[in-house]
Amino acid sequence: MQRRHLLSAVSAASLFGITGANAAKLALDTRPLPEDKLAERNPEAYWKKIREEQFFLPNWRAFLNNGSLGVAPRPVVRAVAGYLEQSAGLTMDYYPRWGYEAMEEQRQELARFYGCKKEEIAFMHNATEALCTIAAGIDLKAGDEVLLTDQEHPSGRGCWQIRQARHGISLREVKIPLPPKSAGQLTDLLIGAIGPRTRVLSFSGILSPTGLVMPIREICDAARAKGVITVLDGAHMHGQIAFRTSELGCDYMAGSPHKWAFAPAGCGLLYIREENLEKLWPSIASGSWNNEDLKAARFMNVGTNNRAIFEGMMAGLKFLEQLGPERVYARIHEQARYFFKKSQECPHVDLLTPGNDAMFGSLVTVKFKSPKVDKLQELLKKKRIWTTGGQQVRLSSHVHTRKSDIDLYFETVKEALG
Ligand SMILES: Cc1ncc(COP(=O)(O)O)c(C=O)c1O
Repeated sequence: MQRRHLLSAVSAASLFGITGANAAKLALDTRPLPEDKLAERNPEAYWKKIREEQFFLPNWRAFLNNGSLGVAPRPVVRAVAGYLEQSAGLTMDYYPRWGYEAMEEQRQELARFYGCKKEEIAFMHNATEALCTIAAGIDLKAGDEVLLTDQEHPSGRGCWQIRQARHGISLREVKIPLPPKSAGQLTDLLIGAIGPRTRVLSFSGILSPTGLVMPIREICDAARAKGVITVLDGAHMHGQIAFRTSELGCDYMAGSPHKWAFAPAGCGLLYIREENLEKLWPSIASGSWNNEDLKAARFMNVGTNNRAIFEGMMAGLKFLEQLGPERVYARIHEQARYFFKKSQECPHVDLLTPGNDAMFGSLVTVKFKSPKVDKLQELLKKKRIWTTGGQQVRLSSHVHTRKSDIDLYFETVKEALG
C-alpha cells in the first residue's frame, strides 16, 4: 500500500473509533473515500472506486437484494472487529457490552442524524424487535382494533397477531392497489378505513413487497386528528430515503439500519414520540424497567449484549454521512429508475412499482407473467446474481450496485425465458 494511503487509512481508522496498535493493522484494509471532485467530474469512476475500495464484494457477485439485508462496508467491519479485539484485551475503561447502559453519546448522534430527540430513540437489534416492543407495550383491550395494510411484512403482522391470539384485539387489513394511482388515494384508503373501534394504525413507510413509498406525514396527521395511534414500520427507511423522524408525525417507529444505512446485521432502532415515553410498557425487563428518567433507554435494559455491532452501526452512519445522504439517494434512485426502464422493456414482467418518482426510492418490484421461473432461478444462481426469489421479484440497488449488474439480470431473464 502506498504511504499516502496508509497514513490516511490510519486516520480513517481512528475516525471510526479504532485506536492504538489496532489502527495500523486495520488500516491495511481501509482506504479513504475518493475525493468529492471525482464524484462531480466522473460519477461512474467514483462509484466504481467506492465498490472496489470500500466493500469486500468480489467482482463476480451481482447483489440485487439489499432490501433483505445490506452489505457492511470495510470501515464498518473493521469497527466491529476492532471493538471485539479491544474488548478481548480489556483495554478500555468500561465494560465492553451493552444491555444495561443508556449509550447517551451514541443515541445523541442517532437523534441528530435521524431528526428526533435523544430521549426518543433506543437501540434495538432489528425492526422486528422494535415492532414487537411497540405492539406488546401499547395498552389495548379485547375488541380494540388495529388497522394494517395487506402489504405488511410478516414482522409487521406477527407482532399484532400475537395480541389478537392472547388478548382478543381485532385486526383488519386495508388492500393497497398495485400500483396505486396516487399518494392521495393511499391516504384516503387508510384513513377512510378507520372505524369506531380503531385504536392503532400500523403501516410500513416503504412497503416491503414492492418498495412503494407511502405518504407518511399525511396518513399520520389524519390518523392523529381522529385520535388513532400510528405505528410506522420504517425497516426500509433509514439510509434509503432522507427524513426527519419528528416531521413524520408518527407515534412510534421501528427501523433496521442494517438494510440501507450500512450497519452490520443485528442493528435496529426504536423511536417513541416524547408524549408516549411513559405510556409504553417494556416487554423485556431488568432492574431499570420502571426508571422513566431513562426515557427511551428504558427499552434497552435487556441484559448483556454484543456492543461491537453498535460500534459498527455508528461507523456505518459516519460512512453514510461522508458519502453524503443526498449523493447516495441520487445514485440509488437513478439505478432504480434504470431497473424501472429495463422492466418496462422486458416482455416477461409486469411492474408493480408506480412510475411516479416520489413513490419509490431504491426498490422496484416486478411480477413475472408466467409462474414458471425455475429455469431463471437456476440460471441466476449459476451466474451468482442475488435477488428475492419466486414469481414476484424485488430488485434493490445500493451504492455498490453496478449498471452492468442490472444489465446482467435482464440478459439472464432473456436467456432463461426467451
Ligand atoms: C417492512 C419490513 N418490516 C420489517 C422487516 C423485518 O426486518 P428485520 O428482519 O430487520 O427485523 C422487514 C424485513 O425485510 C421489512 O421489509
